[in-house]
Amino acid sequence: MQLIDGKSLANRVQGDVAKGVEKLKQEKNIVPGLAVILIGDDPASHAYVKMKAKACEKVGFYSITHNMPDTISQSEIIATIEMMNQNPRIDGILVQLPLPKHVDTDMILEVIAPHKDVDGFHPFNVGRLVTGLDGFVACTPLGVMKMFEAYDIDLEGKDVCVVGASNIVGKPMSSLLLNANATVTTTHIYTKDLKSHTLAADIVIVGVGVPSLIKEDMVRDGAIVIDIGINRIEDGSLVGDVDFHSVSKKCSFITPVPGGVGPMTIAMLLSNTLKSARKREI
Ligand code: GUN
Repeated sequence: MQLIDGKSLANRVQGDVAKGVEKLKQEKNIVPGLAVILIGDDPASHAYVKMKAKACEKVGFYSITHNMPDTISQSEIIATIEMMNQNPRIDGILVQLPLPKHVDTDMILEVIAPHKDVDGFHPFNVGRLVTGLDGFVACTPLGVMKMFEAYDIDLEGKDVCVVGASNIVGKPMSSLLLNANATVTTTHIYTKDLKSHTLAADIVIVGVGVPSLIKEDMVRDGAIVIDIGINRIEDGSLVGDVDFHSVSKKCSFITPVPGGVGPMTIAMLLSNTLKSARKREI
């Protein structure tokens, strides 16, 4: 069994981004800028945003965080996004999800200018992904693809089972895999017999937020298992959606939690923001 070390791969990607930032500064006097909009006081969202801001600083980005109370109106959020759409120093806009219940998430995400949509959640970029055109791709699934590339894992013709069909993870993940010529099965909460699908797969990718959902008897010998889940359990520790202890014994490759997919998400956000800054028209 080989561990896929997301932490060191993410560090490598961050190093490459930092070099790219330096080059862009020297050649075009452009400093990539990221605006983060954070609403409410969900501790997990605050922790993620703090990590994103720290990573921006590390690679030399300009970054601003708009911290708003959860009583904020939809129109005030929209006004802030429109301001960021117009701000020439900002190349990427990220609205941290989930949003408070009174806010229409789909409507908010559609206000972000597609060319600054570094999270890849705007329907314009989702459409380009499904069509196989260049655009911004959601950071977590993009990070998983980077892992496959770094570990020379060939996807062509492979049977891949994606567990979870969210707009943030499962759906873009399945599209990326299909674009890479894998045979993709997307499973979700209404799937009748999850085990029959995971057992048949060469590669299992799970992102549902259910601690230890994937057990030893659900994966075949030699499978590749990618765990996107991050769950805090009662004793305060972080675990994934895969029962790592038992499943890892059967795998050829597996990602740990923490230190697997998580760090890749931030690395790809930086990479997407640099990509946007390179296209900035001055
Ligand atoms: N909430 C959980 N994951 C993400 C993500 O990748 N981007 C944003 N904006 N919010 C999230």
